Amino acid sequence: MTGDQPLVLGLETSCDETGVGIVRGEKLLVDAIASSVDEHARFGGVVPEVASRAHLEAMVPTLERATREAGVRLADIDAVAVTSGPGLAGALMVGVAAAKSLAVALGVPLYGVNHLASHVAVDIVEHGPLPEPTVAMLVSGGHSSLLLVPDVTHDVRSLGSTIDDAAGEAFDKVARVLGLPFPGGPYIDRAAREGSRVAIDFPRGLTQGRDLERHRFDFSFSGLKTAVARWVHAREAAGEPVPVSDVAASFQEAVTDVLTRKAVLACRENGVENLQIGGGVAANSRLRALAQERCDAAGIALRVPRPGLCTDNGAMVAALGAQMLLKGRPASDLALPADSSMPVTQVQA
Ligand code: KG4
Ligand code: ZN
Repeated sequence: MTGDQPLVLGLETSCDETGVGIVRGEKLLVDAIASSVDEHARFGGVVPEVASRAHLEAMVPTLERATREAGVRLADIDAVAVTSGPGLAGALMVGVAAAKSLAVALGVPLYGVNHLASHVAVDIVEHGPLPEPTVAMLVSGGHSSLLLVPDVTHDVRSLGSTIDDAAGEAFDKVARVLGLPFPGGPYIDRAAREGSRVAIDFPRGLTQGRDLERHRFDFSFSGLKTAVARWVHAREAAGEPVPVSDVAASFQEAVTDVLTRKAVLACRENGVENLQIGGGVAANSRLRALAQERCDAAGIALRVPRPGLCTDNGAMVAALGAQMLLKGRPASDLALPADSSMPVTQVQA
């Protein structure tokens, strides 16, 4: 170990990004990414087999690029961290196998970590130590969760999650209805800038009466997605043009309204004054603005990493691995599996 800050390598291969990040303690040195997103675009979603093969091809070149750009040698690495779940099984296996090989070859500890906890931990390299406890809202293509996080290295509790589609999935499906490319989130974000947020009053799932009582911190976006599709198809059937920007802005408003309302409620009802938002959808400009507005009004300190650290990357895995090492958490067993359905409450494999 050079100085007293450990040099940690993080590998992420749970979906379509091959991410290799290197941190020294709480400082990010490099965040190298190779994405196979273009290979999935024509299928309108990530194809697991295609993603796995792309990871296999990209892993070593991305690792070489990361060490070169960070100006470090593999021999200087103090620990290896890897996403062991949740995610696509075959994709995860590529990263886990690579991480095991590196840990054995370098003779350093291996940390198999949870992808979702990593989305929370990444903010440490951006904004410093996480307040404890913090409420974290993770919104991505695969997940929408509200978490209570007393300690990101070993105590993550679930407050609620989506009961159907993930928030990012709703963005991707609505984009398809509007004829926008995959993944749809960034395209809807862009189209929405030209549209009116109040043009169409789309439903806010699980925010009223009995639904809210029973699913206080849960989300549902499937009804919203269907409502948008029905609205668009009715216009098309009537031979009228579809106002893409207005639909995008009104849909985006419905999603971000629900997300921010429930996140603030979760902070209030748990007596927590810190909210962190992560995951791909946290790159959304309206979500960031509305969350800031509502947190300011409620006296909650908001932390959101820069958009490039919200989407999947290796830096987040390295960030969590470094925290584990710094807090003296035991390393994972070298026989650790790739666990495609790793529960959010299990931080480490
Ligand atoms: O975290 P992530 O990179 O991968 C998963 O773990 O799923 O998230 C990808 C998701 C996609 O659904 C994508 O459409 C969405 O994040 N996304 C956005 C934006 N950028 C990415 N959604 C809304 N607005 C954005 N600007
Ligand atoms: Zn993710």
